[in-house]
Amino acid sequence: MICDNIGVNALDHLTFAGQDTVMLAAQYGTPLYLMDEQRIRQNFRTYREALSAAFGERAAVLYAGKACAFTELYRIAASENAGIDVVSRGELYSAMKAQYPLENACFHGNNKTDEDLFYAVRSGIGLICVDNEEELFALDRIAGELNVIQKILIRVTPGIDPHTYDAVSTGKVDSKFGNAVATGQAEMILREAFRLPHVNVCGVHCHVGSQVFAEDVFERAAEVMLRFMAMIREKCSVTLEMLDLGGGYGVRYVEDDPELRIPEKIAGVAEQIRKICRELDYPVPFIMMEPGRSIVADAGMTLYTVGSVKRIPGYKSYVSVDGGMSDNPRYALYRSRYTVKNASHAEDPDTENFSVVGRLCESGDILQENVSLPSATARGDILAVCTTGAYNYAMSSQYNRLPKPPVVMLNEGSARIVVRRETLEDVTALDV
Ligand code: LLP
Repeated sequence: MICDNIGVNALDHLTFAGQDTVMLAAQYGTPLYLMDEQRIRQNFRTYREALSAAFGERAAVLYAGKACAFTELYRIAASENAGIDVVSRGELYSAMKAQYPLENACFHGNNKTDEDLFYAVRSGIGLICVDNEEELFALDRIAGELNVIQKILIRVTPGIDPHTYDAVSTGKVDSKFGNAVATGQAEMILREAFRLPHVNVCGVHCHVGSQVFAEDVFERAAEVMLRFMAMIREKCSVTLEMLDLGGGYGVRYVEDDPELRIPEKIAGVAEQIRKICRELDYPVPFIMMEPGRSIVADAGMTLYTVGSVKRIPGYKSYVSVDGGMSDNPRYALYRSRYTVKNASHAEDPDTENFSVVGRLCESGDILQENVSLPSATARGDILAVCTTGAYNYAMSSQYNRLPKPPVVMLNEGSARIVVRRETLEDVTALDV
């Protein structure tokens, strides 16, 4: 199986986190998002232990809630002593509802409004990662009004190509995010920031991309950032204390994706950081990492019910399910690959090729193409799409006025609803 929290039981049903997915589908209905709490916690621990092995107390993991955010997930993050990265008032508010300690949160985004900034500063947020000059001046004014000296990071683009798909590449010079080292803009915004009375520049941030597998991307980013920090020390006599390397480590969606070993990756980055710091005679900064996908992706699975199996002789065959691009737009957007299984007949040989499509009224509503499934796949079977914990629920919509599926958290044999299923009333709740 694509992940070790997936198995098959004596009924030939697919299991997830040790529980029978066909029974869960019967109990909670489909489409259904499942999440494996122990896996989320284990992923947090992997990062925590790797960072503390490398940097002792001088490092932190900040969970990027954009990958999947709901109140219970912030409670889990809090209980794992993880920091969080939020990108909107909605995420911040969800964290507040979880009584998440906001001094451990960092606010990101390339276009924070005055309302966002006011809300974040007033909430007592630990850090705001400033993207641009307009925002910097607005934040200084707002922090002044609130009588706060706000700790900030400055977002820097190191000019690194992470070799992932374009929509998630963010570290290149022409990115909409941050301030490029190469053009001198990063230095300029730092100089501005040092002059302002109501912000305290703690360090710099970069995020090069998402679903990154390429060998030395984080090592190269760290090097560019550290050299930049040393240059700032030389030119401005300020030794920046924090370096946030963002998120981005890739996860395995299909058998031929590589498997990243996070502890080894982090050890490699740490070694590079120490080496460059020695060379520059720069104190090793406090290191932050912001994983989203690699915390939650393999902790998720989506279940659907098959509605129809349509074979167009000489052309192709479709399996239609009761969800689609409204609960998982990633194939439609990025051609993302997923492992799909017939959960009702998990051990049957996968003998026929299908396009697995959703129920939404457009041809682009495809969950996955070229999926091998048992030929006997039929109406009523439960289909599982694996590794959907990241950027699925988070990117879901009510397109076609479909109510959003619930999220059920599985934990050591028990199951609980952590986001309830939307009703038709919810769908029309804002209509006047
Ligand atoms: N930090 C920052 C500043 C980010 O922009 C992101 C992701 C992360 C951390 C977390 O990256 P991760 O560890 O999850 O790769 N919707 C796309 C992914 C967009 C990623 C945006 N930023 C997808 O479904 O693949």
